[in-house]
Amino acid sequence: MKKTGVALLGLGTVGGGTYRILQQNRELIKKAHGLDIEVIKILDRDYNKSDALNVDRAKVTFDIDDIISDPSIGIVAEAIGGINPAKSFLIKALEAGKSVVTANKELCAKCWDELNAAAKKGKAGFYFEASCVGGVPIIRTLMDGMQANNILEMKGIVNGTTNYILSAMTQCGTEYSDALKEAQKLGYAEANPTADVDGFDASYKISILSTLAFHKHVPLEKVYREGISSISVEDINYGKELGMTLKLLAIAKNNGGKIEARVHPAFVDNAHPLATVSGSFNAVHLLGDMVGDIMLYGRGAGDLPTGSAIVSDIVYAANKGGAKYNYNNGTFKDSDFAGDFTCKYYIRMNVSDKSGTLGKIATVFGKNKVSLQSVLQKDVKDGFAPIVFTTHETGEKNMQKALAAVKELDSVIDVAAVIRIE
Ligand code: HSE
Repeated sequence: MKKTGVALLGLGTVGGGTYRILQQNRELIKKAHGLDIEVIKILDRDYNKSDALNVDRAKVTFDIDDIISDPSIGIVAEAIGGINPAKSFLIKALEAGKSVVTANKELCAKCWDELNAAAKKGKAGFYFEASCVGGVPIIRTLMDGMQANNILEMKGIVNGTTNYILSAMTQCGTEYSDALKEAQKLGYAEANPTADVDGFDASYKISILSTLAFHKHVPLEKVYREGISSISVEDINYGKELGMTLKLLAIAKNNGGKIEARVHPAFVDNAHPLATVSGSFNAVHLLGDMVGDIMLYGRGAGDLPTGSAIVSDIVYAANKGGAKYNYNNGTFKDSDFAGDFTCKYYIRMNVSDKSGTLGKIATVFGKNKVSLQSVLQKDVKDGFAPIVFTTHETGEKNMQKALAAVKELDSVIDVAAVIRIE
């Protein structure tokens, strides 16, 4: 039986989950895949974590060079997170010819070129299934299941924290700040929630996934990003009246060679399968030109789900050896990116309740080539009223121009919310 020596970097939630799976399912992997995977060393400074998992202390090291210099270790699996020191550890491992498996989306998204160069130099495999959508095999699906397709579009709920918060706002009417506190109390959100609620985590993931889907590097700086912190229950409730559910979406499209990648809150029609994905669950909808629609659903975070993706990559790396995937297909040029994108819009504004107001607003939208689809007005109070418009499909730049002109109208008190509809 083939023996595979593995080192784990980091024994926190994800590293601990990976270790447990490798112990618990070692026999299964032997039988099903003909591989005997042994954890040879673990890099972690905290003996409490390794003791809690009954790891022999002789396996624990504080020094990455103990791992790099050990010829019995062929695969290094990283679950430290962040850029430093993970980046230097992984580059060392790759250049030394060890396959690397990582869950680190920030590192993959920000240091893509350096990691690929190191893998090429060391003729080593570089695998990162666990970096996107946790336990859901999205990368395997893109790379090994959709080779016959031009991938036209990808839309996903790729961040469980924000999906938990938006679900609480939708289902219980909890306002954003209370829903965030609840998510923090339950361990879904970090004490500093910025990476999740401001859309950074989702933007790392869509940069990685769109690069794989479109076969050239889509750098992070080309991903448009907006988070959920200004979303109110009022807008979610208006959306419900209009048959829509609010989600933080990561979207990537290839429109006839023009690439777009973006992360922002968006209303989706209740009939769309993404509308039903609630709580901390993730899901991704893919559209291939041959296969049509594919939908993947599951846990995007957590010890065992993310560990499951890491172990899958370890098995994959052990079977394939060196770099299986060629990630070095160059980078899209600036001119390959769509300068604008189109979608429908939801717009809520507060206006004076005077005759002619609606007409003036509609005229300004019309002059700016924005076609209105529906208007909802109620709860007139003290002479002014909230109005909700939805539009037909229009360009983002066009919409921003139209909104600037609408804000100039005397009868418009403010534009309180603008949310895209996908
Ligand atoms: N913080 C992420 C989420 C999990 O909330 O989905 C790991 O990317």
